[in-house]
Amino acid sequence: MFPALMPTYARADLAFERGEGAWLMTADGRRFLDFGAGIATSSLGHAHPHLTAAIAAQAARVMHVSNLYRIPGAERLAQRLVDATFADSVFFCNSGAEANEGMVKMVRRAMAETNRPGRYRMICFEGAFHGRTLAMLSATGNEKYLAGFGPRVDGFDHVPFGNMNAVRNAIGAETAGILVEPIQGEGGVRAAPEFFLRDLRAACDEFGLFLALDEVQCGMGRTGTLFAHEQAGIVPDAVSAAKGIAGGFPMGAILATETLAKHLRPGSHGTTFGGNPLACAAANAVLDVLLTPGFLAQVAARGAALHASLTDLVHAVPEVFAGVRGQGLMIGLVCAVPSTDVQSACLEEGLLTVAAGENVLRIVPPLTLTEADAAEGMARLRRAARRCVPAHALAAAK
Ligand SMILES: Cc1ncc(COP(=O)(O)O)c(C=O)c1O
Repeated sequence: MFPALMPTYARADLAFERGEGAWLMTADGRRFLDFGAGIATSSLGHAHPHLTAAIAAQAARVMHVSNLYRIPGAERLAQRLVDATFADSVFFCNSGAEANEGMVKMVRRAMAETNRPGRYRMICFEGAFHGRTLAMLSATGNEKYLAGFGPRVDGFDHVPFGNMNAVRNAIGAETAGILVEPIQGEGGVRAAPEFFLRDLRAACDEFGLFLALDEVQCGMGRTGTLFAHEQAGIVPDAVSAAKGIAGGFPMGAILATETLAKHLRPGSHGTTFGGNPLACAAANAVLDVLLTPGFLAQVAARGAALHASLTDLVHAVPEVFAGVRGQGLMIGLVCAVPSTDVQSACLEEGLLTVAAGENVLRIVPPLTLTEADAAEGMARLRRAARRCVPAHALAAAK
């Protein structure tokens, strides 16, 4: 019989009944250590008391009112994000794709309203992932996701990630901006070199373009700073966020400078659910934790320690692993055997991970990961690695 739940995912045959911190439990009592965090989203882990209390309290008062009225929680959240970042103004929506879509609309509209209506194209990068709407599929540009969905939405030009000559060659009379992930997540935890982000900023300044960063996966503390681009010391024109922003409650956001934000006025962009009281209560609670003095430094330190342990593991089992990359708690383990085999072996050991492009296994645990859970995860990963040593390598070692 055709599944009632549309089969758009090849799901593991596992259902979790509850969670606690970095752990997820099945109804039959099995415990899994969650190094995937719902694809880099459960930033405070599971059942975080501050987050669940904030959601419960808000749900008991009022959940949704629409954006026809003032929403104090949204105003407070926006002000806090403005105070903590480059942004002058924030728009709330419901997902990463929607945030990116709105960000591109904003860039196009800014060009149109400053007498440059012919400038609507975005330069994007090979290996990118920007979401599943029709326009964001085209911004992603990967044939794997586009096949069968008709003509591409016009306005997205792709060049190799990290190649500044290609970027400069692609800038034309119709270019409005550059859309880039500071660290490509789905593409395989590929970080843009810091100089690349700085060179992109310089090119945007030179040609009057907008620099729009997709920080849906690498933002909201994941790399040890509130946003990843801070580490390159650049000031973007707009940044999208989602995933970890509300700790697992669906939410997206566009952060922008006034120069861009002033072009979206009543009637030009909108959403029914975006920034509703419940979502904002969740996001404010997440931000309480992220902005606690020392918290982001701890994410960076925990990430660096995990990175070092993983580097040791790579050296210990070169038949299975080829390298480690990433920043903070956004780590990619480059595999020498199929990453899906390693992912399955990890699952056997009760460790949840997420596969990505370039045969990389993503290690993206909750940002609240404890030292003890990091050590337990490493122990499980070592056992999983042993399961993956190819037979010929085992024979040679005898
Ligand atoms: C960098 C990036 N942008 C956009 C998206 C799309 O986000 P969503 O699935 O919330 O639409 C993702 C999701 O994986 C992502 O990693």
